[in-house]
Amino acid sequence: MADYYKQILENNIQWVKESLDKDPHYFRALATKQTPPLLWIGCSDSRVPANEIIGASNGEVFVHRNIANMVIHTDMNMLSVLDYAVNVLKVKHIIVVGHYGCGGIKAAMNNDSIGIIDNWIRHIKNVYRLHKDLLDAIPNETARFNAFVEVNVKEQVFDLARTSIVQSAWKSGQDVTLHGWAYGLNSGIVTDLDVNLTSEKNLDEVYQLKF
Ligand code: CO
Repeated sequence: MADYYKQILENNIQWVKESLDKDPHYFRALATKQTPPLLWIGCSDSRVPANEIIGASNGEVFVHRNIANMVIHTDMNMLSVLDYAVNVLKVKHIIVVGHYGCGGIKAAMNNDSIGIIDNWIRHIKNVYRLHKDLLDAIPNETARFNAFVEVNVKEQVFDLARTSIVQSAWKSGQDVTLHGWAYGLNSGIVTDLDVNLTSEKNLDEVYQLKF
């Protein structure tokens, strides 16, 4: 472990050197400002690194990650990231990125108590309950697991759209589109789940805010 720890600090020095070899102004330019076009809301899973998957450069992706890429509208962390991304950085796209094989989704499908995290997983169980008919009708467990990953992403995209932050941006004519993806751990491939929301008209009437 000590070797590993020493190694990552050495890796950093090497990375700085290589970056400066390619462009002597690399860090100076990055330090002045960020104008990322994209907010990525993904899972904390170490195998789903935001920038790497989409070949993005530093400064291109504003990131929020938590267990099972949830958009919980009372989560001050998520709301703060979203507010800053939409109202200050003016991102053009927000993508909720789930992934097949997600441990959080798996945990929500069974009844084992894991600890404090049970209370976070409960948000995911709520999604299961919303889509119980669809999910329970899938006999194969892997297929059901995959479908749950996908409906959870779609549900989080709609949760984003329901926030006052996104609705207010749309109302003022800001160009921001919400998307949902599912990433394949064993293929590296992103599946676009084809929920591309650009207006509060996509929402159930009860959620539509008047400003
Ligand atoms: Co996950």
